[in-house]
Amino acid sequence: MKVYTLDEIIIQRQSAFPYAKGDLSRLLMHIGVAAKIVSREVNKAGLIDILGETGDVNVQGEEVKKLDVYANDQFIAALKSTGICAGIASEENDDIVILDDEMSLNGKYVVCMDPLDGSSNIDVNVSIGTIFSIYRRVSEPGKPVTKEDFLQPGNKQVAAGYIIYGSSTMLVYTTGLGATSFTLDPSIGEFCLTEEVVKTPEDGKIYSINQGNYFQFPEGVRRYIQYCQETDKATKRPYSLRYIGSLVADFHRNLLKGGIFIYPETDKAPNGKLRLLYECNPIAFIAEQAGGMAVDGNGNRIMDIKPTELHQRVPFYVGSKNMVKKAIEFNKEFSGK
Ligand code: AHG
Ligand code: MN
Ligand code: MN
Repeated sequence: MKVYTLDEIIIQRQSAFPYAKGDLSRLLMHIGVAAKIVSREVNKAGLIDILGETGDVNVQGEEVKKLDVYANDQFIAALKSTGICAGIASEENDDIVILDDEMSLNGKYVVCMDPLDGSSNIDVNVSIGTIFSIYRRVSEPGKPVTKEDFLQPGNKQVAAGYIIYGSSTMLVYTTGLGATSFTLDPSIGEFCLTEEVVKTPEDGKIYSINQGNYFQFPEGVRRYIQYCQETDKATKRPYSLRYIGSLVADFHRNLLKGGIFIYPETDKAPNGKLRLLYECNPIAFIAEQAGGMAVDGNGNRIMDIKPTELHQRVPFYVGSKNMVKKAIEFNKEFSGK
């Protein structure tokens, strides 16, 4: 059977846009390479202690970096080397990263990313991820990018995706023509096509939420949780609660099996915890492309929110369409929304 690699599929897709110069394709391919490097490091995270690299300085005299800083550096380096990306907004950087070498200054694209998502799971060998989102810059090429280039609503994304470092490493991305998934075959070092068209079920049996915060949730969310737990044969309830604590991993499972992920507003975090630019928007783009739905607690489409801050947070409800709609019905009825 012929195996299709990520690069082959990216190039194939490019022909759907006859005037495309291949810039976006190159950007995506470089993200693929950085993902392979980070995947390799993630896989040996547990070995660092055994190999004795616990001090601040390793054998090459380099500082031993935490994996999230390492992933950030890798993706920034990969994006810089393309000469197509003019700037980056990352969870790991307070401000935007301006790429001001001559090539990058003329780059048409900017990237928002969460280089290592689920970082509290690194030390315990549980799935983590990387999330990315690509926009066309709105400022004039040739000049340094500005914040405005990043404060675009998610509906302007030209591509988005995530990598999950799990029992195997997978990459899922979209350019707006459906979502496609790949699995890394470490023996050949390539992301191989897994599902050309990823579709998510309209109904599911999984709900994912940090239920430890139950008493901090709005009334509508609490009622929806009760609804998930009630017995009803026709709607296959009770649903199962599954929560890893890595958005990428929780979302990926629900995407394939059908389910809902909620990170709602809480007393402590009135806008929820997840970040609009580099967590919610890219995941929302994939969800919608797979036939799912992503909204805030009022039922507003995530991708239509106009950001005002780089690290802006938003309550996030994402997953199977009918489940998301149901959760919002509860909010409307009980949370006065
Ligand atoms: P990050 O590691 O990038 O900061 O993201 C962690 C996020 C997300 O992955 C996950 O869904 C959420 O935090 C879990 O938060 P709680 O521990 O509050 O449930
Ligand atoms: Mn994250
Ligand atoms: Mn992170």
